[in-house]
Amino acid sequence: MATTPSLQIQLTDPELKLLQTLIYQECGMYFDERRVHFLQDRLQRRLKATGLESFYRYYQLLTSREGRAELSALLENLTVNETSFFRNKPQLDLFHKVTLEEILQRKTERRDWSLRVWSAGCSTGQEPYTIAMLICDALAYYYLRNPLPFEMPSPKPLIPPPWKVEILASDINYSVLRAAQEAVYPENHMEPVDYTYRLRYFDKGGDKYAIKKGVKEMVHFDFHNLKTEFLPQRNDIIFCRNVMIYFDEAEQKRLVEKFYRCLNREGYLFVGHAESLFGLTDKFRMIHVNNGTAYQRIEANP
Ligand SMILES: C[S@@+](CC[C@H](N)C(=O)[O-])C[C@H]1O[C@@H](n2cnc3c(N)ncnc32)[C@H](O)[C@@H]1O
Repeated sequence: MATTPSLQIQLTDPELKLLQTLIYQECGMYFDERRVHFLQDRLQRRLKATGLESFYRYYQLLTSREGRAELSALLENLTVNETSFFRNKPQLDLFHKVTLEEILQRKTERRDWSLRVWSAGCSTGQEPYTIAMLICDALAYYYLRNPLPFEMPSPKPLIPPPWKVEILASDINYSVLRAAQEAVYPENHMEPVDYTYRLRYFDKGGDKYAIKKGVKEMVHFDFHNLKTEFLPQRNDIIFCRNVMIYFDEAEQKRLVEKFYRCLNREGYLFVGHAESLFGLTDKFRMIHVNNGTAYQRIEANP
């Protein structure tokens, strides 16, 4: 049976420029020539979903007050949400064995028992839950070597008192935030999670794995657009991996400057494997251990 070809709207160069500019201004994502095809494809989907037949009408909607929901829907369609548990193992080893160790030591000396980590661009939650599991392990190992002067309550809590650990995880995409909050993952997402972690931090039901309640409660999800100035402050560590790669250099520079201000003194920033702060700032020092990289805030007045 012959199918009717769906109406494809071919954007003119000025129309494309308008759309590129709008998206850049809204969320920092920059669609250069290599990604224009993807942009065209996603635009077609939204035109079909809204039933609008001209770019002009669609653009009018996007830029109107009533079009805020459609603008969010378009941005959701444009984000790349690829992620996994224990992504970039050498970097997580550095986080677990070097960064956390240094922070726990430093904070213990100051009798500051708070630890705040932000996963910016957390997608479906694998990154912040990995961070939570590694923090639980790092704290347990720390207190094995430096026993507390009092009896630990039984059963042992994931976070030994008096520590208070907060993990904030944010994204611009509401659908991934909902999935992250649900915290249930199919078997094919579990390949990077070894059995010791599956046993300690997941409950298995059928062919799905649910993050255990204690770990789930450590992570708070929220909507944040990294393009804006209103971002979570006073973090000891920020993870922003595989997000900046979609921004142009000017936007990357602005974001790194904001991250500097969102970090506590001597705080750390982790970026993705294909990303670097090289050429963007001189306010961070690079730490490179066994193929893992992190950046630490340089203090003007040490
Ligand atoms: C490729 S995923 C990376 C997920 C995770 N950080 C990792 O490395 O596995 C990129 C995420 O950044 C989010 N993102 C893109 N632009 C953003 C913005 N302006 N503000 C907040 N999140 C954004 C996307 O929605 C997506 O979920």
